[in-house]
Amino acid sequence: MKIGNVTLESPFVVAPMAGMTDTAFRRLVKRHGGCGLVVTEMVSSEGLVRGIDRTLEYAEYTEEERPVSIQIFGGDPQKMADAARIVEGMGADIVDVNMGCPVPKIAKHHAGCSLMREPERAASVIGAMTRAVKIPVTVKMRAGWNDGSRNAPALAKMVQDAGAAAVTIHGRTAEQSYSGSADWSLVARVASELTIPVLGSGDCVEPEHVIAKLSGGAKLAGGVGADFSRPISGVLVGRGVLRNPWILAQAADLAAGRPPREVTLRERGEFLHQYIDLLLSERVHEADGFRHVAPSHARTGAPALVAVGRERWVINKLRALCAWYSKGLDGASHLRVRVNAATSIAELRAIVDACFFDVPGQVAAV
Ligand SMILES: Cc1cc2nc3c(=O)[nH]c(=O)nc-3n(C[C@H](O)[C@H](O)[C@H](O)COP(=O)(O)O)c2cc1C
Repeated sequence: MKIGNVTLESPFVVAPMAGMTDTAFRRLVKRHGGCGLVVTEMVSSEGLVRGIDRTLEYAEYTEEERPVSIQIFGGDPQKMADAARIVEGMGADIVDVNMGCPVPKIAKHHAGCSLMREPERAASVIGAMTRAVKIPVTVKMRAGWNDGSRNAPALAKMVQDAGAAAVTIHGRTAEQSYSGSADWSLVARVASELTIPVLGSGDCVEPEHVIAKLSGGAKLAGGVGADFSRPISGVLVGRGVLRNPWILAQAADLAAGRPPREVTLRERGEFLHQYIDLLLSERVHEADGFRHVAPSHARTGAPALVAVGRERWVINKLRALCAWYSKGLDGASHLRVRVNAATSIAELRAIVDACFFDVPGQVAAV
């Protein structure tokens, strides 16, 4: 699949997830294979333009994650264009615009999903960005703001006309947040009506779901008299990849006609140790050019996470991941309670060993 001039080796994508899909996590998922694109956590256009360190960190990525899409949010066309230039300057392959976030803090600034309520503004944001950069500009939106306004088909067409190179649709409304289920027939309908690639997002927690959504698209769109030659181009996996970071590799196995690889409990434990290792070593002894950063970092140097601050940060990261990662595992609540009570890295590692390594002969239920 191609998005603009960027070739994706696989149609399976790590969805953007604020607080979760940091560069360390994305690297680990990517190493398992099957992943055609990773998208960063959403990054504030305001913070990027003003060079606010904490914002800039969300945009960081490393070479092995390519192709990389940096997702930005904001509602001011000029600022979004300036932010897109910064993203391009960082060497990102794609810049994505968040038109799906329903959180009031974001939506009240004409950003996130509130852009779906202001289609003209949304189109002018995309127009300003596509004039400002050469890399593809893409959009991630929801079905609409609420049930009375499921305007993804119309808005997707508008952003395509404004120059967007691809659109992703999470088939829920902002009002739904995460309740109910994602409407994939809407994704299929938009795919059938646009000329650019259309990707879908929502509710893929098994590799079989990923394949079914991808290949079922044309069938779903059939109901609205669609052109069968334009199926859904790709699938973003969000919560499913937090539960099971191998899901994209397993989907690729299925797509290649192989049984999905089995993941042992030990491998799941090793993943957590590797995640801790990567988080602990972020920005420590990295060769020049290892990390792609936004300009103000280059000027002021990397923010020094002091040892205690880093340990606390890593513990919090593990707590956040384990809330999802433990789902479906035997003893999930036991793992979560223990990780939430941990106060040191050593304790965290001991918990991982106890829950994943000291249980002979088990295969994780993923
Ligand atoms: C913790 C969390 C954070 C998210 N952050 C973002 C974000 O920063 N940008 C975005 O476009 N979507 C965000 N999403 C939405 C996901 O990208 C995805 O569209 C949604 O979760 C539905 O897919 P899923 O059922 O595979 O999780 C987030 C979802 C979750 C659960």
